[in-house]
Amino acid sequence: MTADGAIVLPGSETGSGNGRTVCVTGAGGFIASWIVKLLLERGYTVKGTVRNPEDQKNDHLRAMDGAEERLLLCKADLLDLEALRAAFHECQGVFHTASPVTDDPELMVEPAVDGTRKVIKAAADAGVRRVVFTSSIGAVTMDPKRGAEVVVDESCWSDLEFCKKTKNWYCYGKAVAEQAACELAKEVGVELVVVNPVLVLGPLLQPTVNASVTHVLKYLDGSAKTYANAVQAYVHVRDVAEAHILVFENPKASGRYLCAERVLHREDLVRMLAQFFPHYPVPTQCSDEVNPRKKPYEISNQKLRDLGLVFTPVTQALYDTVKSLQERGRLPAVS
Ligand SMILES: NC(=O)c1ccc[n+]([C@@H]2O[C@H](COP(=O)([O-])OP(=O)(O)OC[C@H]3O[C@@H](n4cnc5c(N)ncnc54)[C@H](OP(=O)(O)O)[C@@H]3O)[C@@H](O)[C@H]2O)c1
Repeated sequence: MTADGAIVLPGSETGSGNGRTVCVTGAGGFIASWIVKLLLERGYTVKGTVRNPEDQKNDHLRAMDGAEERLLLCKADLLDLEALRAAFHECQGVFHTASPVTDDPELMVEPAVDGTRKVIKAAADAGVRRVVFTSSIGAVTMDPKRGAEVVVDESCWSDLEFCKKTKNWYCYGKAVAEQAACELAKEVGVELVVVNPVLVLGPLLQPTVNASVTHVLKYLDGSAKTYANAVQAYVHVRDVAEAHILVFENPKASGRYLCAERVLHREDLVRMLAQFFPHYPVPTQCSDEVNPRKKPYEISNQKLRDLGLVFTPVTQALYDTVKSLQERGRLPAVS
């Protein structure tokens, strides 16, 4: 027990968590599972919201080190204000990571935007000091007016009309959710810090394969016969979880934080995969043999590096992703 009478749970005496209680929404997801794992390792007591705590797909959370003593799974849909309030009770921080990841406007926009508003409202009601919101690069780069020479940084915003016109409902939903979170947090007096990850790769902790890992799986399991003439920024999932905790713990952290290691053309990505894992049917042909090769844009990750984050090279992220898919039997295990 501490001097102020709080009960100290086993394992919570060490690490930066220092006995604090925080909540992670959508705890069973790819990124959220890593946030929960690192928080538990650092001595936090973690409340994780999931839609169905009994579901076996959340067993990996219960099996984590420290989970028995310091993890509580709470049932909450993003549109259920009461359930969110109950989950955030006695929490100093909330990591709002839950979101649909889809381009179906019906499934995306309402839970992403209204759900985020409800999270901020519930956090204010529960007296939470700081909310870390997992936004996306989708809220940053979808702007056709941005010049090729511009270095993408935290000042860039996606153009909502362009997202609508091109039916990029995921990017639209994330951008509107981020804006709504910023406005409401100011209004209700909650500190909000935003992490904008690019495409996230790395080892899966959860039993299912999420959308961003499928981006790599499809080049290895024979389902993609060609690669696109496209560029994409990548980051390791552990770095994304680390970024969330860094911006939560650093009192000076504010605003948005782009979380990216590097931008690659798809050709470079498939080449790296083929180099590491030559036994898989990695495509060698681009689906677009007409247009000039798209040029990778420049992106700044300076803000997170200034907070002390050391980014893992994308080659490691790719390697770890494939090894994890092999370990889970999603890919035949060839060396
Ligand atoms: N992975 C990436 O490359 C990437 C990049 C940038 C940003 N992000 C953002 O990072 C966050 C997590 O993404 P992820 O890749 O980890 O995806 P994920 O594995 O699909 O996780 C999404 C989580 O959100 C939960 N969720 C969805 N709709 C919900 C609702 N209505 N109520 C409650 N929970 C709901 C899901 O719960 P169920 O399991 O019950 O469906 C799941 O736990 C999202 O906000 C996403 O926009 C991801």
